[in-house]
Amino acid sequence: MTDMKPSILVTRAIFPDVIERLAQYFDVDDNQEDLVLDSGALRERLAGKVGVLANAADRIDGELVGALPQLRAVCNMAVGYNNLDLPALTAAGIVATNTPDVLTETTADFGWALLMATARRVTEGEHYLRAGKWERWSYDMLVGMDVQGSTLGILGMGRIGQGLARRAAGFDMQVLYHNRSQLPDDVERSLNARYVSKAELLQQSDHLILVLPYSVESHHAIGAAEIAQMKPTATLINLARGGIVDDAALAAALRARKIFAAGLDVFEGEPSVHPDLLTVPNVVLTPHIASASEKTRRAMANLAADNLIAALDVGPQAGKPPTVVNPEVMARRR
Ligand code: DGY
Repeated sequence: MTDMKPSILVTRAIFPDVIERLAQYFDVDDNQEDLVLDSGALRERLAGKVGVLANAADRIDGELVGALPQLRAVCNMAVGYNNLDLPALTAAGIVATNTPDVLTETTADFGWALLMATARRVTEGEHYLRAGKWERWSYDMLVGMDVQGSTLGILGMGRIGQGLARRAAGFDMQVLYHNRSQLPDDVERSLNARYVSKAELLQQSDHLILVLPYSVESHHAIGAAEIAQMKPTATLINLARGGIVDDAALAAALRARKIFAAGLDVFEGEPSVHPDLLTVPNVVLTPHIASASEKTRRAMANLAADNLIAALDVGPQAGKPPTVVNPEVMARRR
């Protein structure tokens, strides 16, 4: 008789070789059909499972945690983990992990792409051309805002924020930032970045990029009152999470030209997008793809799998998941 393997759930389709790797240790309930599991389906599929490889869109809340006494590990394939009720997981002794570092540079690259596209009206230009509106050259056709030589504001100076600051050096930009805590002097010097208050950041940035985590505190960190403090020539880029920006207020501000333009990769209530954002011309919209390069998505899936295998005390790193967000649970287990 063979030993029964512990059961886990992988909530969405991922690379088949990652499923195979997990199957060496676990009985894997996969979802390679890629059905979106609502909270009822998630609860049903998680019954009897000891671990889950989740996606940032899977809400694992206190109620679900309470209904799953056998659950021991929740491993997000995302650096953000606002989909998890961390206090509830920690109280229940469930390890939670994320996928930092492996996506930093790819996400910062995309932030740069969104900044350039927004400031220089790249998608608007393409729509104009495809619509057959391009009849002749004119001095003021689709003029935008310069990126080189301008002032970049970064709200949230973690790994991705620092990646953006490094890129800004090549564009001869002045870098300002605001963060929960100020960076050490040597890091600030190496990034050529200056800490300012949130109000100064709003008032002085030519381009403001949001890369802070979503939480109750950062909900609507940028709403009508904040946008009113920005320059009318400024651009706003949201690379972080929907809900940090009040999307309705932003759409109204864009329509009234209170700021020049916005670039958004994340939305409140995504994959739904506020209907007003779909009709204003001065916004670049992308479907939450900042970390979407082949190499990075593979690295994220493998790191999430490494975490799950180790958190469930098997594999080469048994008991030592590499990127835990509630280390107190691991400490209690020892
Ligand atoms: C992340 O890793 O948090 C990205 O936003 C993908 O969800």
